[in-house]
Formats: sequence, structure tokens, C-alpha cells
Amino acid sequence: MSSEGGRWVSVLVLHGPNLNLLGQREPGIYGSVTLDKINRLLVAEGEKLQAKVSAIQSNHEGVLVDAIHQASDQYHGLVINAGAYTHTSVAIRDAIAAVQIPTVEVHLSNIYRREEFRHHSYIAPVAIGQISGFGADSYLLGLHALLRHLQAKAENI
Ligand code: DQA
Repeated sequence: MSSEGGRWVSVLVLHGPNLNLLGQREPGIYGSVTLDKINRLLVAEGEKLQAKVSAIQSNHEGVLVDAIHQASDQYHGLVINAGAYTHTSVAIRDAIAAVQIPTVEVHLSNIYRREEFRHHSYIAPVAIGQISGFGADSYLLGLHALLRHLQAKAENI
């Protein structure tokens, strides 16, 4: 993807189950920022960094798998908060591995300070890296990390 101002990249942000309820869902853990606000912050941050950001939220594993398959043709990279599927979904992990799209895993909460079942991520081994525990900022940090990775990769070619 290109634009008059230089080279733009396109990024897909995928939000998994229950993240549509952000703002009202366990605010002591996830904060009071809504998903819509997070998406608007990501789009605005992307514009500053020459990245076109699109976002999809789904409560359904197969929809997320389909979105990852389609992303490989349309996007340079992926930021994913797979929600509870992080800890259960071999299918989402396999989809990322299959299409080999550069992926950053993010979580609002610090999953390692919470219940033991949240300590394992199926996504982490197929991601570039993981950002966990910074609330809505985890997404913005994840976007920055992905863009820096893509830039470094482009410069090495
Ligand atoms: C989460 C952490 C997961 O354990 C949980 O199931 C979520 C949200 C987070 O962003 O902190 O739904 O991914």
C-alpha cells in the first residue's frame, strides 16, 4: 500500500470474545475505556505513524480464524487480543502460524498476575512478542512494536 506522503502499511487489530463489553466489563481489571475508544485511539496513532489501522471484534473462534486467513492478503501485520481464546485456542494459533503474518499479542491485564489458567498463551509462540498489563495502552504499545518490526524488516531487504 502506498500514499503520496510515502510508504503506508496496513494493520489489522483483532479483538476476541467479551472485548465488545469493555467499559462495563470488570472495570477494576480492564479499565473503563470502551472498545470503540480503543479503536479510535489506534486509528489516530496509526495515522501519525503512516499506518492504516482496521479493527474487527468477534466472540466466535471461527470468525477470528477466517479473519486471520484473509488478513494475510490485505494487511502487513496483526495486533491480536484473543481474550480467553488466548488460553484455549490451538485453531487461532495454527491460523497465525499458517499465514505467517507478523503478529503482536496484547492484553489489557497482566495475565501473569492473574489466575494460573491465564498464564499460558497458545498465541505467544507464534507471535513476535507479547505486551500485557498496560490497559488500553497495551494496544498502542503493540501497534508501535509491530510497526517498528515491519520497518526493520523492510530496511533489511
Ligand atoms: C485479556 C486476558 C484474558 O485472560 C481474558 O480472558 C480476556 C482479556 C486481557 O486483555 O487482559 O478476555 O485478554
